[in-house]
Amino acid sequence: RDEDLVLGLESSCDETAAAILRADGTILAEAVLSQLAEHTPYGGVVPEIAARSHLAHLPALVRRVLDQAGTTPAGLAAVAATAGPGLIGGLIVGATLGKGIAIAQGLPYLAINHLEGHALTPRLPGVHPGGVAPEARGALAFPYLLLLLSGGHCQCVLVEGVGRHRRLGTTLDDAVGEAFDKSAKLLGLPWPGGPHLERLAGAGDAKRFSLPRPLYGREGCDFSFSGLKTAVANIVAKGLDDQGRADLAAGFQAAVSATLANRAAHALAMAPGATALVVSGGVAANQGIRAALAEVAAKAGLPLVAPPIRLCTDNAVMIAWAGIERLRAGLTEPLDHAPRPRWPL
Ligand code: KG4
Ligand code: ZN
Repeated sequence: RDEDLVLGLESSCDETAAAILRADGTILAEAVLSQLAEHTPYGGVVPEIAARSHLAHLPALVRRVLDQAGTTPAGLAAVAATAGPGLIGGLIVGATLGKGIAIAQGLPYLAINHLEGHALTPRLPGVHPGGVAPEARGALAFPYLLLLLSGGHCQCVLVEGVGRHRRLGTTLDDAVGEAFDKSAKLLGLPWPGGPHLERLAGAGDAKRFSLPRPLYGREGCDFSFSGLKTAVANIVAKGLDDQGRADLAAGFQAAVSATLANRAAHALAMAPGATALVVSGGVAANQGIRAALAEVAAKAGLPLVAPPIRLCTDNAVMIAWAGIERLRAGLTEPLDHAPRPRWPL
């Protein structure tokens, strides 16, 4: 047995993923299968299809990462699986496979909160702020402020330690990725629309349409996006040519960026000890949003940390890494730990 190999499994939504990391954070193997093509005909993730697809693919994916890492189940030191929040069918598939391997090999089982996976990823060696000396890498210190921006989640969390988080703000209605996807749909773009909308915005004039900036300037750091989506719907309803659609996309992206920047600035003011502003989740791929947040961080004299995109979107490296951090802290779970569809940080 290799004393420090941890297997991570992710199956909470529509990515089936497995990874093997060394306890020092070295990634030995990683694999992600997107179910996008299976859900696209329905314009969204269908839970039953997701669960069946995880069941069909996760075991072979585990075999593949074991082979890539040059090991076998007997060579592992622990197994970490996403146990929530997410779609319960998929969670059961990943958690049950993880427990099975743990039982068969007599290993510790780590039930990982998917959000904590996103939250701890910036501490993975090599993900530290660009330009920092290599010897300082992996040293991102607690506490730091995390903006988690995805299709399912939109929250602002002060990450104080392993298993220790303080949620400073959340969305009152849609998640930011959801707002991108719904607005993109109104603009006639394919699902999921975020990246398509960003591309279209590149050809547009953000100043042409005046759009609301929900909660801008309001106390705290909650988010709201449904009013913005309604404004987009009202403009689309009046009829737009191609240039109009690009202008509206640009206006939408500018409104979201400005709003997120404002909320992040408030959050930093609420967290005076923060060492960095971290942005993660699929929406962190958006360059306009990154630029707006970089400005906010710079004003506060802090680095903006954005993990590489493959570690921002759903993956199993983050689950294995959270497992390593929790193992170090002695936070394993008994084998009767039940997956939780709802599990706030
Ligand atoms: O984190 P993620 O892959 O999955 C979860 O939702 O958990 O995030 C997917 C979301 C989708 O809503 C997608 O449209 C959005 O991230 N997204 C983007 C961009 N790339 C992905 N939104 C805006 N701009 C992008 N470039
Ligand atoms: Zn996620």
